[in-house]
Amino acid sequence: MLDAHDHLLPGVDDGSPSWEVTLAMARQAADDGIDHIICTPHINAEVDGLAMLDRHAALRDELEARLADADLSIRLECGAEWMLTPDLIDVVSNRGRLGKSRAFLYELSPFMPLAAAGGILKDARKAGLIPVLAHPERYPSASEKDMPLLGDFAARGCYLQITGGSLLGVFGKEVRRLAERIVQSFPDRVVLSSDAHNTGARAPRLKAAYAALDALKSGLGQQAAQRLAALCSSE
Ligand SMILES: [Fe+2]
Repeated sequence: MLDAHDHLLPGVDDGSPSWEVTLAMARQAADDGIDHIICTPHINAEVDGLAMLDRHAALRDELEARLADADLSIRLECGAEWMLTPDLIDVVSNRGRLGKSRAFLYELSPFMPLAAAGGILKDARKAGLIPVLAHPERYPSASEKDMPLLGDFAARGCYLQITGGSLLGVFGKEVRRLAERIVQSFPDRVVLSSDAHNTGARAPRLKAAYAALDALKSGLGQQAAQRLAALCSSE
């Protein structure tokens, strides 16, 4: 099972603060059946600069060695959760996509309207890139009224990454309801990842969330998992 949105690397964002927590999260992931993680620290290209990507790659290498020492078998790749900035398509044309794929993960700041996420879709398509919008169900401005907007994003090539915990009520009833509505409205464009930050409520677990997808629509869990795997191996 692949988790393509995970703040597992230590000390680089608001995810794992230490190697100890990172290894505990990796153990939780392995226990849940996750055998492939794309590490996606938050990056704002304008604020953090692209040198962060080199730091992340070095941490990934070190984590790979530490996982081998701990006898944990998880394939690790680098990615990023990009803050939407005007030059994002230029940036991800070169670096910072999900693994070695054409897909990239991006998010909005809490102050941006959901509509802003559509601003890069035309350029993404021109550049041959596949946009994956992180957790549309969790933006403060998002509501059930946004289904036509999300439908427009989807029609223009954007995938919608639902966070597993959203389907399990981790972020409250409203987020859960919105996540379910998105899944039911766009079953062909939804993918699932943990967006794990810690070993607590936001741990790297996916099995229960995939079961929740199946409960909404039979077979959807497997379809969404296959879709994510295909996106993250797109060339
Ligand atoms: Fe995230």
